Amino acid sequence: MCGIVGYIGQKDAYDVVLKGLQRLEYRGYDSAGIALYDGNQLNICKTKGKVSDLNTKCIADNVRKGKIGIGHTRWATHGEPNDVNSHPHVSNSGRLAIIHNGIIENYDAIKKVLENRGYTFHSDTDTEVLVNLIEEVMMSDDHKLGKAVQIALNQAVGAYAIAVFDREKPNEIVVARLGSPLAIGVGDNEFFIASDASPFIEYTKSAIYLEDGEMGVIRLGREPRIRKIHNDKLIDPYIHELKISLDQIEKSGYEHFMLKEIYEQPEAIKDTFRGRMLADKGVIRMAGVDDHLEKFLNADRIIIAACGTSWHAGLVAEYIFEDISRIPVEVEYASEFRYRNPVIGPNDVMIAISQSGETADTMAAIKLAKENGAFVFGVCNVVGSSISRETDAGAYTHAGPEIGVASTKAFTTQITVLSLMALKLGKAKGTISNSDFHLYLNEMESIPDKIEKALQENDHILNVAEFMKNSKNSLYLGRGYNFPVALEGALKLKEISYIHAEGYPAAEMKHGPIALIDEEMPVVVIATRKGHYEKVVSNIQEIKSRKGKIIALVTEGDDTVKNIADHVIEVPETFEAFTPLLTTIPLQLLSYHIAVMLGKNVDQPRNLAKSVTVE
Ligand code: G6P
Repeated sequence: MCGIVGYIGQKDAYDVVLKGLQRLEYRGYDSAGIALYDGNQLNICKTKGKVSDLNTKCIADNVRKGKIGIGHTRWATHGEPNDVNSHPHVSNSGRLAIIHNGIIENYDAIKKVLENRGYTFHSDTDTEVLVNLIEEVMMSDDHKLGKAVQIALNQAVGAYAIAVFDREKPNEIVVARLGSPLAIGVGDNEFFIASDASPFIEYTKSAIYLEDGEMGVIRLGREPRIRKIHNDKLIDPYIHELKISLDQIEKSGYEHFMLKEIYEQPEAIKDTFRGRMLADKGVIRMAGVDDHLEKFLNADRIIIAACGTSWHAGLVAEYIFEDISRIPVEVEYASEFRYRNPVIGPNDVMIAISQSGETADTMAAIKLAKENGAFVFGVCNVVGSSISRETDAGAYTHAGPEIGVASTKAFTTQITVLSLMALKLGKAKGTISNSDFHLYLNEMESIPDKIEKALQENDHILNVAEFMKNSKNSLYLGRGYNFPVALEGALKLKEISYIHAEGYPAAEMKHGPIALIDEEMPVVVIATRKGHYEKVVSNIQEIKSRKGKIIALVTEGDDTVKNIADHVIEVPETFEAFTPLLTTIPLQLLSYHIAVMLGKNVDQPRNLAKSVTVE
């Protein structure tokens, strides 16, 4: 997956596109490039590396002039990350420049046909094939660019968000999407194109989100003309009024986005509650659930499909749905589910969880569930994202933009939404008493303050990070509701510090991981007072007697574990079902500090991307 940006208007396109690419680097950062038309010729500048490297190269090559331009930040799919494979790609005649986020699956077959017609290729990419296919259509039948793009895309199989322009007609950009996001910012006689709205939010609040299978011809001096790629039907575009602010997307004084986002969690969770949880009235309002209550109440089971951190939120949800609403739950890796011929029926409800709302595997799982008649509910963060549009109903997490590649506030707000759903359904089904429901709501309301308290352990966590930072391996253990937190804690450490970490159910330790324990091995144990506390304390003793180093997460005031562990980190007391919302916090901070101490790129860890729009 990649980030794309485009501009056409009166400003210097270079400044807009470059700044936009920096905002989109979370989508990929192994190479970057830009194409500008300077009034005489098409100039391309591209390089392996980050957007800052691109800037250095463009300054050196003097490629910065022009009022129309497109840019790309890449996460390699076809072809290794190098200068040649970077986008934009140019057609053989040198007329057309294209940027592309996605994969053209049948590129090899198209390439062979084009080669037979004399085309040559310089890169290993599918994108270079596509731009030449467009050129071939344009030249052979004398089509305008928009029509040529449409004909070419009808021959392409795969996923794409593209922007292409013709140096002979430098007053228009043609865009299209299928499976990868694309937004058009509508300004005053200027247009912006981007994978999400962050590159243009400082210039305009008006945006058109292309739907899958749509393309647009964006020409100065008139409204964008949007149509269906496959049947040519013209679409009257809906212009969204954007509510996010630039300040929300920038770092607000924090050293990294990840740290900012960790500290935003109390506010983010309050935003998740807003308008939904009326604790004093004893009410949870969620339109997406209320409007389809029967679907949930009559469900044979809930299937949760997600990837990465969102999958961990799904595991927490399994505990709370089964515990409180007594609905059987299965949690599936979307990537496995989509390919394993699962049994799905009309009485199943799927909950698809996704921060970005764009993850290709989760989209495919949704499609499969829908084809089999299941009702699909989305829990997404990005408003207007593909998953939020594809699902039958849903609830946004309202965490605000999450830029750090390692997910933090998206995770806790996902758990919050899912917990509210479980409580609401438990009440509707009568599996939880009215008085317990009220107790849960009151406790839920106190969670943001308790997270604030958990964050106050930060200085102490710095010491723990110092203690752990030189380890090569580590083990994270938890039971019950905190088993998924152990998985998530281990994932956070792996993702940003590259230290190998494994999450395990504490009681399973004796079936394998215990063999790894020696004086070199730090073991992070979640040992909060609610939920199998004594059993986890026994596990800690077992680690101690094998000389493992113990870092324990305990409930405030716990003295028992303090006497055994090398370090303890305290979190406030809460109901067992809500402990993940607190125990997650110190594990996020721990990974963050270790990665910073090791000099790693916290916000953009190697090989990862924020939004995985390829399978
Ligand atoms: C990528 C990100 C993870 C995220 C996962 C699922 O791997 O780096 O942080 O958890 O995708 O993404 P989603 O947007 O569907 O939650």
